Amino acid sequence: MSSQIIPVEPFDYVVFGGTGDLAERKLLPALYHRQLDGQLTEPTRIIGASRSHLTHEEYRKFADEALREHLKPGEYDADQVKAFCNRLYYVSVDAKSDNGWKELKDLLDEGKERVRAFYLAVAPAIFGDISERIRDNKLITKSTRIVVEKPIGRDLASALELNDTIGKVFREEQIFRIDHYLGKETVQNLMALRFANALYEPLWNSAHIDHVQITVAESVGLESRAGYYDKAGALRDMVQNHILQLLCLVAMEVPPSMNAESVRDEKLKVLRALKRIDASNVEKLTVRGQYKAGASAGGPVKGYLEELEGGVSNTETFVGIKAEIDNWRWAGVPFYIRTGKRMAERMSEIVITFKPIPHSIFDDAAGRISQNQLVIRLQPNEGVKQSLMIKDPGPGGMRLRNVSLDMSFAEAFNARSADAYERLLLDVIRSNQTLFMRRDEVEAAWRWVDPILKAWDETGQPAQGYTAGTWGPSQAIALIERDGRTWHES
Ligand code: BG6
Repeated sequence: MSSQIIPVEPFDYVVFGGTGDLAERKLLPALYHRQLDGQLTEPTRIIGASRSHLTHEEYRKFADEALREHLKPGEYDADQVKAFCNRLYYVSVDAKSDNGWKELKDLLDEGKERVRAFYLAVAPAIFGDISERIRDNKLITKSTRIVVEKPIGRDLASALELNDTIGKVFREEQIFRIDHYLGKETVQNLMALRFANALYEPLWNSAHIDHVQITVAESVGLESRAGYYDKAGALRDMVQNHILQLLCLVAMEVPPSMNAESVRDEKLKVLRALKRIDASNVEKLTVRGQYKAGASAGGPVKGYLEELEGGVSNTETFVGIKAEIDNWRWAGVPFYIRTGKRMAERMSEIVITFKPIPHSIFDDAAGRISQNQLVIRLQPNEGVKQSLMIKDPGPGGMRLRNVSLDMSFAEAFNARSADAYERLLLDVIRSNQTLFMRRDEVEAAWRWVDPILKAWDETGQPAQGYTAGTWGPSQAIALIERDGRTWHES
C-alpha cells in the first residue's frame, strides 16, 4: 500500500464463525495483511469462536493453512505468519447454550481495557442468541463494538426484526453493519473523485449527465452456496446491499464532511427518493435471468438447475433494472443496473455517460462525436478512465477521435490492491462508521426492494434463460437499447 500506515490501538477481535468460510478466505488473510504492514500493536489478539472443539494450537494451524491457501504468491512470510498466529486464540462456544461462555469471558477479562470487537460471521438466525449471551455474560465494555454480515433480513419485516434484536443489546454507534463493497478501493475513490476535484461536481446532475450504468458481473456460479442462494437470488444477494450502496455514492448530495452521520444521511435521502417499482411497471423496468449450461474460463459449466441437482427453481441469478431517482438533481436520468452470476467475465464498473454536445461546429468528415464517459472500474484492474474527443493527430483535415485518459491504480501507484476487509476490519477498531450501513439505510433499501419482490411474485415474472459465459438474457440488452442506449463494453 502506498498510503500511510497508522498503527491502531491494541484490540481483541472475537470472530464467531471463526472456523467458517468467511474467516478462512477473508478475515484471517485481511488481518494478516494488517500485521504485515505493522498496523497491529501489542497485545492485540484475534479469538476464533465456534462450536467445533479446537485448542489454541489447532486454531493456529487452521489459520496457517488458511493463509497458505488464500494469500497470493509471495505474501506468505514464515516469520510474520508465526508472529500473527501467536496472536490467535480459540474458544469453543455454543450460541444456544452456556457452553464455553465462561471460558470466553475469562480470556477477554485479561484485556478488559482494550477495544473489543465481536464479528458475527454466522447465520443471522443466531445473531440474537449471540448478542444476548454477550450481554448476559457481561462481555460488553465501554469500548465494545459488534460487526454483522449480510444478509440483514430477506425483506423489510425480517430486517426490522433483526435490527430490533441486535438493537436490544447494542447501541447503534456500537453496531457495524458491513457491506464489503464499501471497503473496495475504487468505491472510496468515487468519493475522492467527486469531492476532491472541482471538475466533476458542477456537471454531476441531470443537466449534464445522460445516464448511469452499474454493472457487477461475476463469472462464478453457485459455489456450493445453493442452500442460501436459491432462497435469496440476485436481487437480495447483490442489489439490496452492494449495488444500492454504489448507487447512493454516485447519486448522493455533497455531505458537509466525511463524518459517518453526514455521509449516511445523504445516502439515506437517495434511497428514499428511488422511484417505486411495483406490479404496475415491474415488467418494463426489470429483467430476471437464470443461467443455463455454457462455458466459463474456457471450460464447460453446468446450468443453475443442474447445479441445484435436479431442482426446480425460478430464482434469478441475474437481474437488470432501470432505476430512477425522483429528486431535483437526477430527474429523468436512468440508472441502469445489472448483476449476475456466470457472466462473460468478472467485471464491476460504474459508467457515467455525459450528454451529447448541444451543437457540432465540425463537418461530417470529422466523424461521429461520442458522448464523454467516466468509467470507474471496481474490479479487476481497479482504476478510472475518462473518455474525451480529440483531433486525430497529423496534418490532414479535422478528424475527431475518441480517446481515454486511463489510470490503472496498480500501475500508477505500483501498489498491491488491498482487500476491502482489511480497511473495514480496522475501521471497526477505530470506531469509524462512515463505510458501514446505518439501520435506517438498510431498512430504506428493503422498502424499495420489497415491492419489486412482491411484484415478481404477483406477476409471476419468469427468470429468462441465458447461456453461462454471456452478458445475461437478451431482455437485459433490450432494457437499455429500448432507450436508444447500449451497455458499456470495456
Ligand atoms: C457477496 C455475495 O456479498 O458478494 C456473493 O453474497 C458474491 O454472492 C460476492 O459472489 C461478490 O463479492 P466480490 O467482492 O467478489 O465482488
